[in-house]
Amino acid sequence: MEKVKIAILGFGNVGTGVWKILLENKKEIMKRSNYEIEVTKILVKDINKKRDIAVAPGILTNNIDDIINDESIKIVVELIGGCSEAKDYMIRAMKSKKHIVTANKLAIANWSKELFKIADTENVLFYYEASVAGGIPIIREINESLTANRIEQIVGIINGTTNYILSKMTLDGSSFDEALKEAQDKGYAEADPTSDVDGYDAVYKLAIMSSLAFGTEVDHDCIYREGIRNISAVDIEYAKKFGYTIKLLAIAKEINNKLELRVHPTLIPSTHPMANVNDVYNSIMIKGNAVGELMLYGKGAGDLPTGSAVVGDIISILRNNIKPVDLTETSCTVEFKEVKKARENESEFYIRLDFKDKEGVLGDTANIFGENNVSIVSITQDVERGDHSSLAFITHKSEEKNIRNSLNKIIQLDSVNNVESIIRIESFN
Ligand code: NDP
Ligand code: HSE
Repeated sequence: MEKVKIAILGFGNVGTGVWKILLENKKEIMKRSNYEIEVTKILVKDINKKRDIAVAPGILTNNIDDIINDESIKIVVELIGGCSEAKDYMIRAMKSKKHIVTANKLAIANWSKELFKIADTENVLFYYEASVAGGIPIIREINESLTANRIEQIVGIINGTTNYILSKMTLDGSSFDEALKEAQDKGYAEADPTSDVDGYDAVYKLAIMSSLAFGTEVDHDCIYREGIRNISAVDIEYAKKFGYTIKLLAIAKEINNKLELRVHPTLIPSTHPMANVNDVYNSIMIKGNAVGELMLYGKGAGDLPTGSAVVGDIISILRNNIKPVDLTETSCTVEFKEVKKARENESEFYIRLDFKDKEGVLGDTANIFGENNVSIVSITQDVERGDHSSLAFITHKSEEKNIRNSLNKIIQLDSVNNVESIIRIESFN
């Protein structure tokens, strides 16, 4: 059987996952790709670092030129992450006629146009399945299986680290810091976990998916973003009382030719299947005008699940499969689509106030909501500590600006100490 030489850039969580899969499933991969894959070089930062996996002498290198200048290497698998070096290495590899597989959502969300253009000019393939939702084959799903549809919406849990943290806080009562540390130890988090916790990672992934799904160029800076840092045990408890579970959702909807794009903590009905997506699992619900609703579920991070997507891409290249759709290609009907401003979006809301003076607070807040066209579905009042009490509301669907206007007035009431939480609700209607 013909051999093909490949190089892996990065031998961390995902790089070692890819190595393990190539070894463990060697026979199946040979059968399915018609090639024997040989990893001849692995780029790392620190060549002297102690590693759990031993590789033959000469394979590890800290010099990218060993890979770029080696004409026998046909595929470069970029798994170092980050921005500028990863981008530079991928460009240099493509200019040396090497195909690319990457898991780097940061690079795709920022430079897809440039990277795909170079791939096109150099006539090499560029695959990035692992960049969104780890082991879930979502890019292929959108690009191939669902191409008969006009996609109307995508709603998903697409960050494993934050889902791990929120499930541990909800189900085990863990603290935020404990759960984050565990997610890092398991290799789910980005090198800088701020990217996970503050929602940037999910924003990059949503930009990639929605560019493909809606045939437009989504600038990730246009996506409304809120992370999970402010989610407290108190809100998790209130959400439970109201029949909801808190998840970090990524939401993309096309409404009247405008896009609504947002990533934020969300209350979802505890009876919805997505409420039971826990741990590092991700889930994505896509609504197409022909297929209706479709839901995918699987591990969204980790060495082997992500490695599964990466090795799948390597095999696709070896089979010389059809080109993945260029996010910016005109033949893929790229058109400009306006992204709605956050204040124009409509949702139901969960709002929690901290108040000091029971007298009249309920009537005063209800009046202010009413004056601003916000109607209330339910209210719970709990006395917590000393003279502090919490009042939690669930609203009907309202424009976000009406909620903001109400709260700007409510905070001025003498009886109200603070607006503790404002969390959107997704009812999947
Ligand atoms: P790690 O931090 O675990 O590994 C990074 C690897 O890259 C290390 O081996 C490191 O070398 C090497 N490296 C980093 N910078 C350089 C550099 N400048 N030059 C040479 N080598 C370098 O990252 P992950 O494996 O977790 O993530 C890799 C990519 O996969 C990222 O883009 C990430 O977003 C993406 N991804 C990660 C997932 C996950 O579950 N972790 C899931 C899906 C995508 P050394 O070992 O010497 O430090
Ligand atoms: N840090 C990312 C996550 C890795 O937790 O989902 C997978 O992209």
